[in-house]
Amino acid sequence: MTETYVHGYHARENERLQDQAGTLVELLHSDTEYPRGSRVLEAGCGVGAQTITLARRSPHAHFTSIDVSAGSLAEAEQRIERAGFTNVEFRQADIFSLPFEAESFDHVFVCFVLEHLARPVQALQILERLLRPGGTITVIEGDHGSTCFHPDSPAAHAAIECQVALQREAGGNALIGRQLYPLMVEAGFDAVRVSPRMVYADASRPHMVDGFTRKTFTAMIEGVRESAIAAGLIARDSFDAGIRDLHRTTQRDGVFCYTFFKGIGKKPQRPIPGFHPGYETCVHL
Ligand SMILES: C[S@@+](CC[C@H](N)C(=O)[O-])C[C@H]1O[C@@H](n2cnc3c(N)ncnc32)[C@H](O)[C@@H]1O
Repeated sequence: MTETYVHGYHARENERLQDQAGTLVELLHSDTEYPRGSRVLEAGCGVGAQTITLARRSPHAHFTSIDVSAGSLAEAEQRIERAGFTNVEFRQADIFSLPFEAESFDHVFVCFVLEHLARPVQALQILERLLRPGGTITVIEGDHGSTCFHPDSPAAHAAIECQVALQREAGGNALIGRQLYPLMVEAGFDAVRVSPRMVYADASRPHMVDGFTRKTFTAMIEGVRESAIAAGLIARDSFDAGIRDLHRTTQRDGVFCYTFFKGIGKKPQRPIPGFHPGYETCVHL
């Protein structure tokens, strides 16, 4: 593995990714559907939390889902098998040395992976080479700086900042969502469009409060408790107060907001040899 990766291999983290995926299916996937017969590469599939939705929403597309972690892949494979899908093939591979020919795929899907990479543009360029001209890439990332909640709490923000700092130290970027557009353009994609997807949870949406505020976001911040304290980023009591305040936002008068970013871009078409649009226009005028 050529890049450091902070979290994702432990049972609790896997459970968290499942909760996240389950809660966010509509918000993140409602506009993702691949045509019959298309070849789709899912890069960094993890335990298959998104794979299952991809396979379900596009039953006639063929997915190749790769991840660097053999343990996560084994879990993903079991999950897909149990659900009865036969349109997914799993392979262990590193995004930075993928075993595929150029232009082997019609579409690429990447979710919550760039945030862990020190070289996200290079990763996107590698993925672009694997697309046929005109093929699309879909990238989804979060941005912890988008978090806002009521009651507001400096202690909760300080605990969140620990996660951001640890991820930065490991070479990743927990604030990457806001950068999707420039990163995708820099990597060479055409027609890039990014849409912000806000999660909003209050007591009128108990499913979001439980699935997202409690089991996804707060659980993720809680997960860095020991590392943050060991790194001297925060005192134990301050961290615990921050977590308490995040849980406080799940009460009847609490509110929690977080924004994901979904970017879609196209691999440029190859120019047709001898065809110069400007010249053609002149001739016909
Ligand atoms: C947060 S998980 C996201 C998994 C999945 N996409 C999801 O949304 O649930 C990030 C995944 O990226 C994988 N990963 C990190 N660096 C990678 C690399 N260089 N090549 C392939 N996979 C990588 C990790 O093993 C992990 O499974």
